[in-house]
Amino acid sequence: MGRSRKTNQLIREFLSELKEVLTKDGSITLRSLIFQENFHSLEGALKETEIKFIYPSDLKRFKDKSLNVLDICFGLGYNSASLFNNVIRQNSLINWYALEIDKKPLEYSLGNKSFQKLWHPKVFKILKALLKNSKYKDQFFDCDILWGDAREKIKNIPANIKFDLIYLDGFSPQKCPQVWSVEFLSKVTQKLNPQGYLITYSCSAAIRSTLKDFGLNIFNNKPNLVSKNLWSYGTIAVKNIDEKVLQNNLYLKKLSWMEEEHLLTKASIPYRDPTLNSNPKDIIKKRVQEQFLSNLKTSKKWRDKWGMTK
Ligand SMILES: C[S@@+](CC[C@H](N)C(=O)[O-])C[C@H]1O[C@@H](n2cnc3c(N)ncnc32)[C@H](O)[C@@H]1O
Repeated sequence: MGRSRKTNQLIREFLSELKEVLTKDGSITLRSLIFQENFHSLEGALKETEIKFIYPSDLKRFKDKSLNVLDICFGLGYNSASLFNNVIRQNSLINWYALEIDKKPLEYSLGNKSFQKLWHPKVFKILKALLKNSKYKDQFFDCDILWGDAREKIKNIPANIKFDLIYLDGFSPQKCPQVWSVEFLSKVTQKLNPQGYLITYSCSAAIRSTLKDFGLNIFNNKPNLVSKNLWSYGTIAVKNIDEKVLQNNLYLKKLSWMEEEHLLTKASIPYRDPTLNSNPKDIIKKRVQEQFLSNLKTSKKWRDKWGMTK
């Protein structure tokens, strides 16, 4: 029997927007033809999730305890699937929200055998329920995914919930500035527990400066083998950090002098979206104008000083 017209239409829509990509660790990801960017690094989708989000989360802190998590830009679901996989094994109670504009990446990952094989069967069950009902609930998991623009949908998360972990995994600020603006990040950080971690792969000076201006402590997720062009796996921002916690988490490193200097360059000028519904091109254009008028040092000078090639 042939495919229905609706299925063919969905496949056509998928192929015009998304393309499958195999990464070096054998895990699959997607490329967005609209944003012109891959969902994950070509080094490995699974590897990226673990290094950039799961390890710095220090999930063992929540063994036999409860935790609140917000996953912004859920995509194929790697970050949360990996998180669920870990907390299932340690009897944590999880209250979880996710924001995502497009259902297609999750439809795709659920249909992919190699993605399924990575996780405990219960993780697959949760993801399936999220696609079908936008909700999953049992004795340990209370999960809601809010489909739509994160800038709008974040308002629907009950105001009293503060998150222990917030994952921010949008496309890069240059491609998707709407999820990195001062105004959106302000809404996000209002939802962070005083000791909660806001974790992102981005080490952009604009994002770090914005978070620092909100009074958060900024840490580098520092690679073991630091090279001139690979000095960060991302940023962890925390309102109040306990020195003991800091010592126990090997993934949180204070910013180096080189990184502090990055925050004094034009690259630190933030993305602005005062109405929280600006068009990405306008956000970028306004920032370029602001950079042009600024007296700050260029990031090229900073890169030259620290011997970076890019
Ligand atoms: C880099 S991918 C996320 C990868 C994902 N965390 C994973 O584990 O597969 C970025 C995601 O952001 C979503 N996105 C883009 N703009 C958005 C917006 N305004 N609100 C919510 N999600 C958005 C895209 O649909 C895409 O799934």
